[in-house]
Amino acid sequence: MEKKRILTGDRPTGKLHLGHYVGSLKNRVRLQDEYECFFIIADLHTLTTKPEKEHIEALADNVRSAALDYLACGIDPQKSVIYLQSAVPEVIELSLYFQNLITVPRLSRVPSLKEMAQGAGIEEMPFGLLGYPVLQAADILLPRAHLVPVGKDNVAHVEVTREIARRFNYLYGETFPVPDVLVSEYGSLVGTDGNAKMSKSLNNAIFLSDDEKTVTKRVMSMYTDPKRVSADIPGTVEGNPVFQYHDAFNPDKAEVEDLKARYRAGKVGDVEVKEKLARALNAFLDPIRERRAHYEAQTGLVDEIIYDGTMRMREEARTTLSLAKKAMGMSAVWNRISRKAQEMKKK
Ligand code: TRP
Repeated sequence: MEKKRILTGDRPTGKLHLGHYVGSLKNRVRLQDEYECFFIIADLHTLTTKPEKEHIEALADNVRSAALDYLACGIDPQKSVIYLQSAVPEVIELSLYFQNLITVPRLSRVPSLKEMAQGAGIEEMPFGLLGYPVLQAADILLPRAHLVPVGKDNVAHVEVTREIARRFNYLYGETFPVPDVLVSEYGSLVGTDGNAKMSKSLNNAIFLSDDEKTVTKRVMSMYTDPKRVSADIPGTVEGNPVFQYHDAFNPDKAEVEDLKARYRAGKVGDVEVKEKLARALNAFLDPIRERRAHYEAQTGLVDEIIYDGTMRMREEARTTLSLAKKAMGMSAVWNRISRKAQEMKKK
């Protein structure tokens, strides 16, 4: 039996961090064998909040850096496709057809769009940003994906995709699978400063590409229980970022439980808890560092992987777009006219 398909990915805005790992990369690596996976680097989506030339100029490097982060985490280019959205123009045409299958009030209710506008300091909603989930629907349905693993903030976008797929199938006949969303179990990761979300712009991130020293430094200055001014005061484990990271990244559960018990009893210093976390994090990152070094060692290897993936996706895109246009009856419009015109020319 043919494998079911996954489509997911990211906007290329720079280096990926531990939050991306627990929120999505971990799932992607795990699902590669069971599914045929397509990983999009969604550069067109960055234009919805960053259309300025300076941001466009940074795209090529950011695309490479995203792809390298994927590969370093264990995305295997022999199994999965990594591709560049803007190099597959069929997505734009499909997105245009989809724009007619969803209303403006419906899109206005997608909460993340307002947040993205706010975050970017945009006062009034750009047309393209309102259409962000519609373009994402085209991404997802272009390879006719069945499953979309994403973080919490993207669940509403996949819901829009499902509505568009149903509407398309209803109007034009069964063409697209209605894809399921898969939300990562862990959700988002707190920042090193205790802020709810790890993010590059908040300067509270540990990057997948950070070296051992940087990681240790970051961990040693992490926010913990602020009420605990000395090691003999009982501390709070719940909601404490240091322990959330231990839970997420330290495979030695006995060590974590022992630290928690002693922390609650006021029998361990923050320094020991943090040193053990730094060790666990660096052990977690070591294989990622090794794979990164492997892909970096050969000049042009990452570009070649993106190129090959994009070519593979283009094939898929042509097939889907022609299916969709046939179902809609759109291909017939020009076909009739051009066929007749060519007939006349031959006479
Ligand atoms: N919206 C995703 C983000 O927040 C990026 C993205 C674009 C995406 N197209 C996608 C994710 C399709 C999953 C599926 O960065």
